[in-house]
Amino acid sequence: GLPDRVTIYEVGPRDGLQNEKTVVPLDVKAAFVRRLVAAGLPVVEATSFVHPRWVPQLADAAELVEELAEGPTFPHPVLVPNERGLHRALEAGCAHVAVFASATETFAARNLNSTVADQMTMFAPVVRRALDAGADVRAYVSMCFGDPWEGPVDPDAVVRVGCELLELGATQLSLGDTIGVGTAGQVGDLVRRFGAAGVGADRLALHFHDTYGQALTNVHAALQAGVTTFDASAGGLGGCPYARSATGNLATEDLVWFLTGLGIGHGVDLDALVATSTWMAERLGKTPASAVVRALGGA
Ligand code: HMG
Ligand code: MG
Repeated sequence: GLPDRVTIYEVGPRDGLQNEKTVVPLDVKAAFVRRLVAAGLPVVEATSFVHPRWVPQLADAAELVEELAEGPTFPHPVLVPNERGLHRALEAGCAHVAVFASATETFAARNLNSTVADQMTMFAPVVRRALDAGADVRAYVSMCFGDPWEGPVDPDAVVRVGCELLELGATQLSLGDTIGVGTAGQVGDLVRRFGAAGVGADRLALHFHDTYGQALTNVHAALQAGVTTFDASAGGLGGCPYARSATGNLATEDLVWFLTGLGIGHGVDLDALVATSTWMAERLGKTPASAVVRALGGA
């Protein structure tokens, strides 16, 4: 059967805004995060401590964290690729970090200037130091189903990379369909392969981009396989500047509509979320990608 409740892991301020042509002003980013929290999203990935030349859109990560901080530790997760990024994040008071690995060589080179093997050497001290500092560590695996340069991806390669990240000490694994080509059968199969390797569905999250319109069916397949954490982006913003053909993430509103229909709890106020995405789309000068936002938001 399906679960009673799922956790939505909102990535709009990070995956969404990293892919915009314009740099969004700090006060708009801060308002976006605050409004998402106010709409009931339990986790809002706020920004990335990556190299500012690689992702200029998020170069103000430290300032954003400072602007949003309300106590000694920052409640929202942030991306960190390496020790330099972790150092910056810990200095800023972050207590939830995420490393991001690639299942394929081409994307490891393009996104991290690394290799599938060397990225683990880069992440090992990051995970160890983060755990020592009392932070928890999510680990992403990108290109879990297909890669724009290499084509279909071997699921066993994904399981290998994922298990290595968990062995380093990562607390949760988010499996990314970075370019949105995966289909439901592959999703169920991948979750079962992790199960066979000793990784229960409770340690997995699924991260769908919606390029081929398969994201919600893929969520359904993952739910049936026991997964209860899903990444999504308000309004369907998102993409990766280093992955050709990556488009927006599964829209949080589409996910919320779908879960509500199934009677699965999520804790999100859909009207507040639609208002937030409509407001953000206006700031970006765009029509919201999400069909639910367009239907409810009067856009
Ligand atoms: P590199 O050029 O190989 O870096 O980039 P390096 O280690 O050779 O260092 C070069 C210089 O950069 C040094 O400074 C470092 O200190 C500095 P110098 O000595 O020359 O003055 N540096 C940094 N400065 C600030 N913050 C840092 C940092 N690191 C080094 N963190 C690197 C390697 C990993 C840094 C680079 O490739 C990078 O930043 N990549 C990030 C790309 C990115 O953010 N992509 C998008 C996120 S992933 C994604 O979207 C997928 C996901 O959504 C899941 C899915 O959809 O599949 C998560
Ligand atoms: Mg992504």
